[in-house]
Amino acid sequence: MIEEDLSYLSLSNVPGPFDPRGVISVATMMGLNELEDLEDEMDLRERWKVYTKAKDSAEDKVKSRRLENASWRLWSMERVRGGDLNKDLSEGVMLRALGESESREASSVDVNSKVNDNGNNLESLNLDMSHVPRGKERPPSPLLIPGQRIVSKETKKTVSPKGSPKKRGSAGNYDIVHVDDPTEVTNWQKLDPDVIGKNTQLLEFADQGTGDYRSPSFQVRYEDGSTLSPVYYFRHRILKGKSSMPEFFPNIYLTNLSEATTLVLELHDFVTGLVVELHYTVMHDYNAICRHVVFINNGDSSVSLQRVMSSTVDFDTDEYFLTQLSGSWARERQVVQTRLLDGITAFQRFVYAISILVRYEVDDCHSGRGASSHQHNPFAIISSGTPNEEHGAAFGFSLLYSGNFQLEAEISETGRLRVNLGINPQGFAWNLEPGESFCSPECVLVFSDEGIGGISRELHRLFCEHLIPQRWRNFVPPVLINTWEAVYFNISHEVVIELASKAKELGIELIVLDDGWFGHRNDTTSSLGDWYPNLQKLPYGLAGLSKEIHSMGLQFGLWFEPEMVSRDSELYSLHPDWCLHIPARGKTVGRNQLVLDFSRSVVRDYIFSQLSNILSSCPIEYIKWDMNRHLTEVFSQDWPASRQGEIAHRYVLGVYELLGRITNAFPHIIFETCSGGGGRFDAGMLYFAPQIWASDNTDAVSRIYIQYGTTLAYPICCIGSHVSTVPNHQTLRSTSMKTRSLVAMCGTFGYELDPRQLSEDEKGEIAAYIQLYKRLAHLIRKGNLYRLWNPFLSSSAAWMFVNNDASQALVFAFNIRREVGRLLPRLLLRGLCYETVYEVEELCPGKLVRNIDTGAIMLDPRGVYQYGENKKLLLSGRTLCCAGLPVKFLFDADSVLFELKAVTSALSLSSF
Ligand code: DGJ
Repeated sequence: MIEEDLSYLSLSNVPGPFDPRGVISVATMMGLNELEDLEDEMDLRERWKVYTKAKDSAEDKVKSRRLENASWRLWSMERVRGGDLNKDLSEGVMLRALGESESREASSVDVNSKVNDNGNNLESLNLDMSHVPRGKERPPSPLLIPGQRIVSKETKKTVSPKGSPKKRGSAGNYDIVHVDDPTEVTNWQKLDPDVIGKNTQLLEFADQGTGDYRSPSFQVRYEDGSTLSPVYYFRHRILKGKSSMPEFFPNIYLTNLSEATTLVLELHDFVTGLVVELHYTVMHDYNAICRHVVFINNGDSSVSLQRVMSSTVDFDTDEYFLTQLSGSWARERQVVQTRLLDGITAFQRFVYAISILVRYEVDDCHSGRGASSHQHNPFAIISSGTPNEEHGAAFGFSLLYSGNFQLEAEISETGRLRVNLGINPQGFAWNLEPGESFCSPECVLVFSDEGIGGISRELHRLFCEHLIPQRWRNFVPPVLINTWEAVYFNISHEVVIELASKAKELGIELIVLDDGWFGHRNDTTSSLGDWYPNLQKLPYGLAGLSKEIHSMGLQFGLWFEPEMVSRDSELYSLHPDWCLHIPARGKTVGRNQLVLDFSRSVVRDYIFSQLSNILSSCPIEYIKWDMNRHLTEVFSQDWPASRQGEIAHRYVLGVYELLGRITNAFPHIIFETCSGGGGRFDAGMLYFAPQIWASDNTDAVSRIYIQYGTTLAYPICCIGSHVSTVPNHQTLRSTSMKTRSLVAMCGTFGYELDPRQLSEDEKGEIAAYIQLYKRLAHLIRKGNLYRLWNPFLSSSAAWMFVNNDASQALVFAFNIRREVGRLLPRLLLRGLCYETVYEVEELCPGKLVRNIDTGAIMLDPRGVYQYGENKKLLLSGRTLCCAGLPVKFLFDADSVLFELKAVTSALSLSSF
């Protein structure tokens, strides 16, 4: 690989006439210009001597006060950086704009690092901050200021334009070389510090209030009310593997240190002692970088973090489009694409008080709900040029977080784009006491030059191999039936056993007892929090039910909603203060329930013991973890006033802790998370559970949109998807069993209907589809996904799964709305090998045909094939991809499934 110096890119910066630029020293600000004349400007002790030479005149008295202030500043810098001020300053060069600064310090790869269970490097992130210089005993800081640079001891090529270096300090394997005129050192330095203001630069992490008027990466408030905190490069380290994150933080895990390399950039605010670590993990086998940020308060007073973006990416000028996944309950993750115009396009709800924006688009992209939400998803794609499924540069952003998030895409006046992704600042304030640290959620950045499809495949691979718990990587979940749409709350031992025995006849393998089994719950008004079986409905308890179900040869699953409490519950009467609320105010109910305060360990411990009692009481193989309302009155009784801005985030951390504890305690149980359908479908949840219920809308046509959108970010294997009855309970739409089955197959595949109500034909169909799914599941779950027809742009949808060597593929196509008399374009396939011949077979033929005498659609039980009965096509990959397959749909929500198998190379096609 050729290593190139890309610093020339900063030459594209053009100074903005009104942009603030450069930093004036404290001394200059205070009018102490005589200090500039000191020969050795590094020697602040010498400067101090000048300060103290104040005379007695009135003017001198004013000056003396200013000198006092200056001395305080200098003293505080010394204190923050620790130790000998003169020594430190003589060893460094302060770099100004991190995003366009050179990489300065010695790199070291720690090959002896330890790795934890998740493959994270345990030694790399030490949140007790013992590695951060603080106090006298800390190592001298290689603080860098203009006029110096570091060069490798081996090369030592840097020479002052006026002659040889004046002075040399030490920084490990590198020397610090002082030069007279730093602007002569490199091209970028010539332009950068004093000519190009921050507002124009492409930055990696941006502060606010010191010249960059774009949306910042972070915001702070100090005890004195000040909000500025410019941070400067201090040093960096490079680690083999990945720096560890706090326990139960969702993150991309490694199985081997050699899978990744991590760069940790350490930035300091030298005035206050705030330290910011930017962590970048480069995944070697993926076009992916994982980023997170750690704030460390290394000063002596508290600081309030008001805004924490996990990632800031500045793009050079181009025409950019944003692809986001937005929707509502029962209409989750619809693909929304917008051309970015000047100003901020943000997924969040509150309005900024920034008046300079030409255009501000608030699209209520809401993550103020305490969960990632039905409304928006912590995921986005930036495409340069019109978004394309197959071609063009695309940049994917996925935040591994299940709470309030914000994504902003800002086109500044220069036409450059900044994308920020992190915790939603609305209501967020994290109090960082001296010595404390704060770790942001992790953000995954993915690049593809194969358009949006390439982003999806890269994320799918990464999430399957490094996010979803390893034990679920290669499994195919049992085909389940869920009692919810079959009987809703009307469950009883007999009913469940009846459903189970009918399901068993169809080939179903697991029955899930959904809502209604506990306390005295018959509707949404009671019992959440009382996690013991309702013995009126289940006289033999869960143990008796589980035993009978297992004796039928089925597995048993159970529904919980651990984060909630009903006012009509024993838990609430015992602990009315355990829910989120503000004592003097009313409590807002949603679905008749309140949200437990998961920021409190006492609450989590109680729920943990309730859940673990149940899970240990009898064999249970599956848990559905629901969350049927989002947060209000986010206020905790356990935390002081100064920490109430932390509660929404602490709530999410609490959910993670409980999920982590319970999944670790019961590792054999498949967890499926859920939030009123797909209200918390995010990468944070996938760290604990291999699947997520995608939507309460089980209508096949609605699901085509929901599942298509979901696949932009998330792999098929995690998309909870069931066949339900017709007319559908959410839309009253009727679709064929074939279409319902094919849609559900492109997900976890299960059933959500009453098998006692099925006709013999339907039973036969279901049994056949279950067999078919079993045969195809591996390819569907592990294959590379290519989306072919986009339902958001046309009236049809199609996608295909191709195995790694392109020898097998499955093509699913669906009609959404049929215009009689119109034909469809040929379906151009993708991902195949051009030189290979494939046998194309249509699986599960249709059952309806048009009577050409009457024009009416009628039943044809023999089976209706696209290319004639039992006719297989033999076509090269080139033909399938370039000429495509003709597809005929007859009616709304018609569908087709083709199986492709490589039979030989194209050279021998003529022999067929
Ligand atoms: C919402 C879920 O999405 C449904 O599947 C069902 O479990 C209900 N909650 C139960 O209350």
